[in-house]
Amino acid sequence: MLALGSDHGGYALKQEIIEHLDKKGIKYKDFGTHSEDSCDYPLYAEAVGKAVASGECERGILICGTGIGISMAANKIKGIRAALCGDCFSAEFSRLHNDANILALGARVIGSGLALKIVDTFLNSEFEGGRHARRVGLISKLEE
Ligand code: RB5
Repeated sequence: MLALGSDHGGYALKQEIIEHLDKKGIKYKDFGTHSEDSCDYPLYAEAVGKAVASGECERGILICGTGIGISMAANKIKGIRAALCGDCFSAEFSRLHNDANILALGARVIGSGLALKIVDTFLNSEFEGGRHARRVGLISKLEE
């Protein structure tokens, strides 16, 4: 199960991602927002971050205008490794090397065509473990 969340700046792209996931039969839970009315991105980062950190959802996707605020907020939650990606290479290696559990996107930065490719890359890439597991472990230690 994938957790989805956005503020008003990311709402339209979230809806396109939902359509894309529906076509592929990928299950998700939409934590909002549910319109283009102005709202506060940390609230959606919190909802999605907690769903992923608790294990309710395996991974998440968060979207705001730049992807910056919503990824900053998500990364305050223990156990969350949110990666803001604007290209497929970063999305792939955020999984391979960093075991990112949330993908953050900037809807005002990239077009929806690229965003959907980034989503597919993120969902189809797996953590390599090994020396990277040690490094991810050191990131986790910073939370203590
Ligand atoms: C909202 O106007 C905008 O600040 C927000 O979507 C995001 O870009 C913040 O980082």
